[in-house]
Amino acid sequence: MKEVELMKKNENLLELRKKYVPKAVYNILPSFISKAKGAKMTDIEGFEMIDFAGGIATINVGHCHPKVVSAIKDQAEKYIHTCFHVAMYEPYIELAKRLCEIAPGEFPKMAFFANSGAEAVENAIKIARYYTKRSGIITFENAFHGRTLMGMSLTSKVKPYKLGFGPFAPEIYRIPFGDTNLFETFLIDHVAPESVAAIIAEPVQGEGGFITPPSDFFPKIAEICQENDILFIADEIQSGMGRTGKMFAIEHWNVIPDIVILAKSLAAGLPLSAIIGREEIMNAPHIGGLGGTFSGNPIACRAALAVLDIFQEENLLSKAEVLGQKINSQVKTWQKNFEIVGNIHGIGSMMAFELIDPKTKKPAKDKATEMVNLCHKKGLVIITCGKYGNTIRLLMPLVINDEDLERGFEIIEENLQLLETRSK
Ligand SMILES: Cc1ncc(COP(=O)(O)O)c(C=O)c1O
Repeated sequence: MKEVELMKKNENLLELRKKYVPKAVYNILPSFISKAKGAKMTDIEGFEMIDFAGGIATINVGHCHPKVVSAIKDQAEKYIHTCFHVAMYEPYIELAKRLCEIAPGEFPKMAFFANSGAEAVENAIKIARYYTKRSGIITFENAFHGRTLMGMSLTSKVKPYKLGFGPFAPEIYRIPFGDTNLFETFLIDHVAPESVAAIIAEPVQGEGGFITPPSDFFPKIAEICQENDILFIADEIQSGMGRTGKMFAIEHWNVIPDIVILAKSLAAGLPLSAIIGREEIMNAPHIGGLGGTFSGNPIACRAALAVLDIFQEENLLSKAEVLGQKINSQVKTWQKNFEIVGNIHGIGSMMAFELIDPKTKKPAKDKATEMVNLCHKKGLVIITCGKYGNTIRLLMPLVINDEDLERGFEIIEENLQLLETRSK
């Protein structure tokens, strides 16, 4: 009995976590969650927090949305796993159909599923290589595509993602993000276009700091791809599922990718990713070349179908747009009022702001880390991102109510005030 009571303290669990779970599996908050609903989480000691992190862009429809919970329960009562390769089931097909219908492009599409974002990246590259019979992949500086060998090889930032984990996958070429003028010489000096299978890009770079390229960047990339029979893969794992006010962020540039990948908010917290693309590309690999034991698990597919229903029924894309305007105006006010607030990045409700040293204007990672800790103490969960770790990203559920949103903003503002005063 005593032991059970002890276990319920954050401090005690933290000790066990340190003993049994490797430190590389990083944590942001020092507390353990007992329940989460909408835009709020409560820890095991009863401390309530407003969630501006959304499980890193995974909870766009809110924690434990009743429709998602009910779909999960209903499916769990029927069957949990058959393995789609062994015995097929309807939710997989229905989800593939619906995603093909909403993905950009008025042409026949196909879709299949994996378990994580990184796995979707792996599969998109496999398919692109198979279809084009080429091996080169062009990726960008400041990109993040996951932690598997291919994901890590495509990812830009060395620490913490790549340090000590090499050698990396070959035939990957990296170019700065946002400047297509460099492409011409790049395709002479680094790799011949005839050897390039695909260009992979995040429409809004997520871990990289919510960086958006100039308006002509993606249209030019699409042109280069078309001229050279290179496929364009849009990694919408963080930017998709309505985060920017459009279902797919690439729609802001009116560009149609050959393959789109989704994960994170697709199934509201259940592990599921989708690879969607032109029929002729997706259908190229031989039978048995794609798949996995758990891939497209029926409970995860049902959760994703509920998410798509919620987007329609609750008009979530318009909500995301309105929320984006509120965040934008708030962040701009902070930028005006606080010297420690630097550049603002992002689109719609995928917004972030940098913290800087007011004297040198240099990135202030220490301030961002302190900000996260101070906010947590006051009951707000936020997370950082960016090349220099000094960017605060806002990824609250799109369904957040005004009261929670305002309180979250207040907490950030109080802490900006504190950090600003301290830095004087
Ligand atoms: C753009 C992007 N691609 C891929 C991934 C990897 O996804 P996962 O962590 O589900 O493997 C992430 C995760 O943050 C991401 O933001």
